[in-house]
Amino acid sequence: MFIDKQSPIPMYHQIMENLKKQIEDGTLAPDTLIPSEREYAERFGISRMTVRQALSNLVNEGYLYRQKGKGTFVSREKFEQPLQGLTSFTEDMRQRGLKASSELLDFNKIACPAHLFSSLQLADSDAVFELKRIRFANDEPMAIETSYIPEKFAGTLTKEHLTGSLYEYIENHTGLAIAHATQELEANVATKGEAHLLSITTGAPVLSITRTTYLQNDLPFEYVLSVYRGDRYKLIHTMER
Ligand code: GLP
Repeated sequence: MFIDKQSPIPMYHQIMENLKKQIEDGTLAPDTLIPSEREYAERFGISRMTVRQALSNLVNEGYLYRQKGKGTFVSREKFEQPLQGLTSFTEDMRQRGLKASSELLDFNKIACPAHLFSSLQLADSDAVFELKRIRFANDEPMAIETSYIPEKFAGTLTKEHLTGSLYEYIENHTGLAIAHATQELEANVATKGEAHLLSITTGAPVLSITRTTYLQNDLPFEYVLSVYRGDRYKLIHTMER
């Protein structure tokens, strides 16, 4: 890396551009520990403040991530999640050539919670399965998903089915056809509990996605709250004018 102190381009900006280039062309591989602020400052004979500004900007832009007590590392490329297709987590991972797996945290049959009556078109005498899973891509935690499935659509659902794909169970074991869904996406920060499950730090950015999925007869069969890691996901869609 070369810093030109005579240049009108601010030094923090030069450091940023240099590091970005090295990350983009692969000179700095994902998860590489980069030199500390102090090392950079000494190497270039500049202030630590200048280095800090450059590194903080790159953290904010997602090029680098910090780990408490360990240092600053090069980020991995985020997964691009298209928003158009109605796919399952298992299908998404398969398409990327990765192994999908889950850890089932909760599996209960409960009376439908009142706040889901309208989304699931149910009443308080109706039962739902409540399932909470951590979803992994090649053993790395990506998301926490809490799903509510009306019992009438998934009466034979057991814990064992949920080591695999829920959508596969619905389509192959119940004969129901999954048709369409609506989603809401929101920015959020990880709570302490979520951070622990996702191996990120408390307060790290996450994407909260709520999905209501419908069968071919337009009846809702699932309501899901997903919390995706903000450092590993970006959502993609195309628009036409
Ligand atoms: C995605 C969706 C969830 C859905 C899940 C099913 O992750 N965000 O709403 O419940 O896929 O995935 P699978 O069939 O792998 O269990």
